[in-house]
Amino acid sequence: MHGEVEISGAKNAAVAIIPATLMVNGVCTLENLPQISDVDMLLTILQHLGATVHYLDKSTVEIDCTNVHFQDAPFDLMRKIRASYYLIGAMLGRFGTAKTTMPGGCNFGVRPIDQHIKGITALGAAFVVENGFIYANATDGGLRGAKVYLDKVSVGATMNIMLAACQAKGRTVIENAAREPHIVDLANFLNSMGADVRGAGTDTIKINGVEALHGGTYTIIPDQIEAGTFMVAAAATGGEVLVKNVIPRHLEVISAKLRETGCVVEEYGDAVLVRGTRALNSTNIKTQPYPGFPTDMQPLMGVLLCLARGTGVITEGIYDNRFKYMDELRRMGAEVQVDGKTAIIEGVSELTGANVRACDLRAGAAVVVAGLCARGRTQVEDVHYIERGYEDFVGKLSSLGANIRRVADTEAEERHGSAAVLCD
Ligand code: UD1
Repeated sequence: MHGEVEISGAKNAAVAIIPATLMVNGVCTLENLPQISDVDMLLTILQHLGATVHYLDKSTVEIDCTNVHFQDAPFDLMRKIRASYYLIGAMLGRFGTAKTTMPGGCNFGVRPIDQHIKGITALGAAFVVENGFIYANATDGGLRGAKVYLDKVSVGATMNIMLAACQAKGRTVIENAAREPHIVDLANFLNSMGADVRGAGTDTIKINGVEALHGGTYTIIPDQIEAGTFMVAAAATGGEVLVKNVIPRHLEVISAKLRETGCVVEEYGDAVLVRGTRALNSTNIKTQPYPGFPTDMQPLMGVLLCLARGTGVITEGIYDNRFKYMDELRRMGAEVQVDGKTAIIEGVSELTGANVRACDLRAGAAVVVAGLCARGRTQVEDVHYIERGYEDFVGKLSSLGANIRRVADTEAEERHGSAAVLCD
């Protein structure tokens, strides 16, 4: 693959910032919003609650939640996305009460939300979880600031507690907070709307509650994982790609691992150039919370290691069950042994095309990249997972010279509104 690709706004920032607009009186203009189905679903949920949503161009949207009111939201949509849990913090902030479903999203094993509940309970909310629904109520005069120590570093819990704390009375301190770039982005968004959030990006975040949030304009950061995906795609195909509209600092750990495999990575102000090599070397990876290696890049690196010389070991440090996609790669000729949270990968000289499926969002992107490297044709089914988080994935890959197209798959479309992609 050769050429230049423009990275879209960060999915994991957007899916928190959109619910956050619920708490704002006035118009929020969000720029660099990715065109992905998770964003579409969240905007639909807000509209259902009474928000007006108006696109100014394909990546800029005006959201006005001035007239929202508490009512049942479209639960079938909520169930499909992980990020619907941010509606708990945002609805509590806005209405003093919340009703959501247990969150959906990618299935990497059990994904509890006990830390969200623990933190928001400390702020004075009472929770009832019943029949797949989560009910929360700010009792006794509303939410009050509190000290919260997270037993586990959790991106979602950190952001959800931050949302609930924004308009709580007094100061909230979140300790052992997650430090991902999207946490800083949510804090920056909230601050630009009048909140007082300090320390985001460190493991201690302090939030002084304010009376109200006002409208404004905010530009979402570029997507770290989409950028990493194109970096790996360039590396795996032995190509040369300039990945534009990125924050290279957010990509340092990915760049470092690609260099270990023998690729060249050059960093510019807001772009990185990746030059692949035909003779990739293996390396080892352990996924960890930021600034460690991101778990969401793990399946992509898995593909690269399948094509590298020697033995590579991946240790998954976040989820119990994030190697399901290895079954798909085995169909393509990969030699992988999985034992719990460890995968041992013996590099092979080539992968071969096969019919495979996207097991989840990032695993889906990974099998597409594998298909682009493989000899012969690969058909990837269940691409609705990929479309949850990648804007125009097929179009962007095609513009870099990939032979890929989206085809209708009637049966899958009936099931999920999804289709397949063919990679030659
Ligand atoms: C977010 C990202 C996801 C990424 C993950 C880790 C969004 C919408 N999704 O997911 O792409 O893979 O961060 O970087 O931003 N846990 C608990 N109890 C909790 C919360 C989490 O035990 O209350 C566990 C999870 O099961 C997991 C680990 O903590 O093992 C980290 O999860 P967390 O950081 O919360 O991930 P998400 O916010 O769900």
